[in-house]
Amino acid sequence: MTTTTELLRRRRIAPSILSADFARLGAQVGEVLDAGARVIHVDVMDGHFVPPITIGPLVVGALADQVHAAGAILDVHLMIERPERTVAEYARAGADSITVHVEATPHLNYALSAVREAGASPSAAINPGTPPSALAEVADLLEMALCMTVNPGWGGQPFIPASLDKVARLRDLLPAGTALEVDGGVDPATAGPCAEAGANVFVAGSAIFGAADPAAAYAAIAAAAGAV
Ligand code: DX5
Ligand code: ZN
Repeated sequence: MTTTTELLRRRRIAPSILSADFARLGAQVGEVLDAGARVIHVDVMDGHFVPPITIGPLVVGALADQVHAAGAILDVHLMIERPERTVAEYARAGADSITVHVEATPHLNYALSAVREAGASPSAAINPGTPPSALAEVADLLEMALCMTVNPGWGGQPFIPASLDKVARLRDLLPAGTALEVDGGVDPATAGPCAEAGANVFVAGSAIFGAADPAAAYAAIAAAAGAV
C-alpha cells in the first residue's frame, strides 16, 4: 500500500494553502505540518473552469520536499479544464493525489487513468450541482472522491447544508476503502456532521489560515472531526 493510500484511509484534516499567506508559504505549511497535518491541499485554478487563477506545478514542486520530508502528501485539486492534458506535469512536480473534476472533461476515465499512469493517486470531484451518480462508472478507479461543499473557486464561503445528505449518498456509492473528501466551508461546526455523513478527509482553508493561530485552528477542527 502506498503512503498516500495509507494516509487517506483515516480521518484527516487537509489544510488548504489557498488561504495561506503566499509571501511566507513555506513557513505557513511548516506550521500545519508541525501541528500534525499529513495531507496538504493545493488548489489549482485556471481562470476558465473557475474564474480565478491561482498556482501551477512550480509551486507544487517548491513545496514537495518539505511536505514529503514530514511524511505528508500533496493533495492537488485541479479546478482546470481538460485536466488530462496536464496531470503528468503535476505528478512530476510531486503531487501524490490528483483530483480532477467530472465537469471539466468529457474523458473522465482517461483522465483518471492518466493520473494513475503518472504515478499519483486518482481522485474525482463533483460540484454542488452534480449528482453522486456522475461517479458511478469510475468508482472502481478512485482512491478518493471529493464532494464540493461550496461552489469551487474561492475560499471563505459558507458550507452548503444539502451537502450532508449528498456525502452520505456518495459514501454508499463508493467501494469500501475509498477516501471521501469534503471541501468548502469546513470548520469546527461543520466537520463533525461531515464525518457522521461518511467523509474522512476534511479540507479547511480559511478556518485554518484565516485564524490567528493556524496550529490551534487545525487542532480544533481535528478534534471536531475525530481526526488524527
Ligand atoms: C475552493 C477550494 C477550497 C478552498 C476551501 O474552490 O477548492 O479548497 O480552499 O476554502 P474554505 O475552507 O475557506 O472554504
Ligand atoms: Zn480545494
